[in-house]
This record gives sequence, structure tokens and C-alpha cells, in this order.
Amino acid sequence: MTNEQYYTFIQPYTDAKEILLARLNVLEHNLYNDSAARPIHNIQNRIKKKKSIENKLIKKEKEPTMMNAKDYLQDIAGVRVICYFIEDIYSLIEALKLQSDLIVIKERDYIDRPKANGYRSYHVIVGVPVYCMDGMEYFPVEIQFRTMSMDFWASMEHRILYKTTRDDKAQIAAELKEYANVLVKIEKRFADYTGERTQKDPLSLEAAEAICLTETDHPEFSPDLSSQIFLKES
Ligand code: GTP
Ligand code: MG
Repeated sequence: MTNEQYYTFIQPYTDAKEILLARLNVLEHNLYNDSAARPIHNIQNRIKKKKSIENKLIKKEKEPTMMNAKDYLQDIAGVRVICYFIEDIYSLIEALKLQSDLIVIKERDYIDRPKANGYRSYHVIVGVPVYCMDGMEYFPVEIQFRTMSMDFWASMEHRILYKTTRDDKAQIAAELKEYANVLVKIEKRFADYTGERTQKDPLSLEAAEAICLTETDHPEFSPDLSSQIFLKES
């Protein structure tokens, strides 16, 4: 794949991503009647780099060609939507699904069913119609919906562990999983404070503190870093 081919190839994916971002912005303003209760904290987006496309195809044992990228990769365009509450995530997904010209290609609810390592996020790949002189074609955009605490955990886990090898991996993975559980509790508690959640599930703060106050020190979280991680991830 030459650079020229790559830039031509990604253009409609960029268009699809921009269309989706515009729709999310409209929902951000209109989802709730209360303008003080906006659902989205921030949105990150990226187009997969040429090298990442080629590497992912090679990993899938496919020739690194544009044709294969089109046929086998559905995360060339990626959008990450960071919300305040889990309810906001489900409301946004429901609202997007009501947009009848979008098609849902694949959906994975890692909030309802977290991954074994503690990872939580709601992934949905939508087909976005892109119109040009020749007609219309759907292009996939991968959307990852997360709350701030899901994003915090995933960004750190990505940095520390995801797709890496290190000797103390099992020990760290066990600790990260504990922190994931604590974050679930804290997140629920925050939702309780604002009445966002309907069912109450009180947190034992002593229990959470006991887990938090283990001897391990953790590097500080930087929001800017998390967006860079997303750019690198792909
Ligand atoms: P990829 O081949 O990585 O795209 O995964 P997949 O096709 O099995 O799809 P999935 O929806 O599980 O994951 C897609 C993306 O979600 C990944 O590229 C990451 O950005 C993110 N992700 C999935 N699992 C994890 C995880 O355990 N930790 C972190 N930090 N991110 C994850
Ligand atoms: Mg991916």
C-alpha cells in the first residue's frame, strides 16, 4: 500500500467518522431536556494509521492490501465517547439506533458482561452511509462508549498490560481487576448522588477503601495521555 493509496483509501472512512461525530454532537445537545445534564464528557476519534492497518492484516494472516483492509477491518475509523454515567451510554446508543439510516454491524456490551480482566466498555460498529457522485456506500465506524472511570481503567491497563509481556503480569492483572471492581462501586455511588440510577446499590466505603489502600503505587492519570493512547492503540 503506497502512501497515496492509503490517503485515498481512508477518505470515505474519515467522512463516515465526521458524519457520526456530527450526529453525536447533535445528541449531546438534545438527548435530555435539561441542558445542565449533558451526557458526554468528551469524544476522541482517530483513523487507523497505515502501519497499524498493515500490522493488523498481517496478524490476521492476510496480505496487507487495501482490498483486504476493506474486507477484514472494521475499526479503520474509531470514535470513543466518554460519558458521565452508564445510563448516558445506553441512552445514546438507543438514540443512535433510532437513526434509521445507520446500520448496526456488530455490538459488544462489555459493561453488562465485563471481560475477564475487568475491562468495561460498550463497543458498537455502525455502518454510516456516505454519499458521493456514484451513489451511496456504508462505511464502518467503531464506537467505544465508556464512562470516565471505565476510560481511566482501560487507558492505564492498556499502558501497563494490554498486549504486552512482562514477568509480573499475573500479579498486576489481579490487582487491576480488583481496582476495576472498586471503580464499579464508586461509579454506582456517584450515580446515586445525582439520582441517575434507578436502583440503589449502596457501597461500603470501608470495603472500597480497604481495597484501594494496598501498598501498590500507581502512576498518575493524565487525560491527554488517554487520547494519545487511543491514537497509538489502533
Ligand atoms: P481488536 O482486534 O483489538 O480490535 O479486538 P476485537 O476485534 O476482538 O474487538 P473488541 O471489541 O474486543 O476490542 C476492540 C478494541 O477495544 C481494542 O482495539 C481496544 O481498543 C479495546 N479493548 C478491548 N479489550 C480491551 C482490554 O482488555 N483492555 C483495553 N485497555 N482495551 C481493550
Ligand atoms: Mg481495534
